[in-house]
Amino acid sequence: MTNPTLLILAGDGIGPEVMAEVKKIIGWYGDRRGVTFDVSEDLVGGCAYDVHGVPLADATMAKAQEVDAVLLGAVGGPKYDVLDFSVKPERGLLRLRKEMDLFANLRPAQCFDALADFSSLKREIVAGLDIMIVRELTSGVYFGEPRGIFVEGNERVGINTQRYTESEIARVARSAFELARKRGNRVCSMEKANVMESGVLWREVVTKVHAEEYPDVALSHMYADNGAMQLVRNPKQFDVIVTDNLFGDVLSDAAAMLTGSLGMLPSASLGLPMANGRPKALYEPVHGSAPDIAGQGKANPIACILSFAMALRYSFDMGAEADRVEAAVAKVLADGLRTADLMGAEGGTPIGTTQMGDAIIAALDASLV
Ligand code: IPM
Ligand code: MG
Repeated sequence: MTNPTLLILAGDGIGPEVMAEVKKIIGWYGDRRGVTFDVSEDLVGGCAYDVHGVPLADATMAKAQEVDAVLLGAVGGPKYDVLDFSVKPERGLLRLRKEMDLFANLRPAQCFDALADFSSLKREIVAGLDIMIVRELTSGVYFGEPRGIFVEGNERVGINTQRYTESEIARVARSAFELARKRGNRVCSMEKANVMESGVLWREVVTKVHAEEYPDVALSHMYADNGAMQLVRNPKQFDVIVTDNLFGDVLSDAAAMLTGSLGMLPSASLGLPMANGRPKALYEPVHGSAPDIAGQGKANPIACILSFAMALRYSFDMGAEADRVEAAVAKVLADGLRTADLMGAEGGTPIGTTQMGDAIIAALDASLV
């Protein structure tokens, strides 16, 4: 059997620092578990722009199409804010998502017990929280045409278009129902059917897919604004949430804070199966490039490490190993180890990025004895 292949795109800001800790874990799997990944590395975002004049070179795009999974760190930084929209670092990420057709973005929000007091919400609201947001990722207002800034009469007008086809809605709905069957068997679909035609169609299609293919799963619908409120009021009412690209972007940031820190949240972006049966896949932390702390060894590598755990689960069918990585993370948090983003009133031992990675490796070692 050939080794599984990974393309690492560490990107900008804290991306390379947090990815360095993931590389240690990939190495650990080779040394200690006999699972050797063939890893290649390339540039995305601002660092790719610096070298190639574009945030994602064609050769990198081609490599991403061939590997079993892409691991991405983060893109962007203030230095690139002045660039034309077409070459901004974020365009590199959006091109990967679009050309790999990664339509289902899985964003789990899980509250580790050791951090339940750290959330800005009360412990009883968040303790034991385990929800999964499935965000449509390749369509909607992020990609709809027409788009642009045009002149109309004597002023300019900015236009973006929310556009969803029935098949785009149906496929992401299926992803959500499939996931729900492996979890709490409940899906809540969120849109704005009260004001948007795309929301009316969304609700209709989700309802039809449910009735025809997943009648065993409990389905509910919610307007996305109410959904945002409910996420903060009583997040544990949810199991799987399925929603469009823009609502999913906003709702997943809100859900992130339920868990204490954006530095904790991983994501998986999945597409159709490839010839080898594995889905096209890209794994990345939900947090950004955090330029304010980049290069200082302060960043929390846990979101990126948990993203690798999602790769083990969803690309490599190694669910038990994903559990092992997640348990190692839970262990170091229970031991009181905290990167700066996790330092709250209740204290803990302050550590940096590499120490957090080392502690997780030590917990992985301990899991084998
Ligand atoms: C995210 C980010 C991206 C998005 C940006 C960086 C393009 O906010 O992954 O949530 O808006 O999708
Ligand atoms: Mg976002």
